[in-house]
Amino acid sequence: MENNKLIIGNMKMNLTLKEVKEYIKQIEPDKNFYVCPPSIYLSYFNDSGYNTGIQNVSEFDMGAYTGEISAIQAVSMGVDLVIIGHSERRMYLHETDEIINNKVKKSLLSGMDVILCVGETLEEKEQNNTKDKLNKQLIEDLKNLDKEDIKYVIVAYEPIWAIGTGKIPTNEEISDISNFIKQVVNNMYGLEPKVLYGGSINDTNIEELNNIDSIDGFLIGGACLKPDKFKKIIETVDKK
Ligand code: 13P
Repeated sequence: MENNKLIIGNMKMNLTLKEVKEYIKQIEPDKNFYVCPPSIYLSYFNDSGYNTGIQNVSEFDMGAYTGEISAIQAVSMGVDLVIIGHSERRMYLHETDEIINNKVKKSLLSGMDVILCVGETLEEKEQNNTKDKLNKQLIEDLKNLDKEDIKYVIVAYEPIWAIGTGKIPTNEEISDISNFIKQVVNNMYGLEPKVLYGGSINDTNIEELNNIDSIDGFLIGGACLKPDKFKKIIETVDKK
């Protein structure tokens, strides 16, 4: 890798097969970035040489859980990492911290890196409760792990009010929160995790965001769906 920053594209529930085939023609796979497509398209991306992640896994191992995909199955498809605890799953699919903790454990056991998403609502931010919220999420979502496991956990700070809104925290705020997250996990396990920022990143604001030294990378939603924009983001991060 030219830079040490991780770049991960979360495609969420977007793209048809036709669009996936078009996408693959427009952006060359590169070791400097990962894509997390809807899981039905994973083999298209894997077979084309991309680093891939999955957007969710089951909290169960295997068996009679219709519609679910296990961590073991994801690994068997060549998937390197998993996004767990995204705010959209917490809000719309009612994932609790207990479920998220189970998913983290299953994923680590199966050998995937875990991207654990945490973040506060606008109301929590306005009431100065951001750190309390993040502290609670980190303690509950990462409880009962082995110290060694923390090497494979990456925390993505995604303020809910910044996702898909065009609003982003200042570099100082992101830096302060990143250091806070590292400190909380260090207090729990004696190791600091990598921390990513996610929320309304685009090909324009990435230059400024890339100046935050305490951030280890970026989790990108909408902008990763447009190959030209995503390429520009990757190039900007690589340049530094
Ligand atoms: P946007 O980049 O579209 O704001 O989404 C961020 C996100 O939720 C990535 O997981």
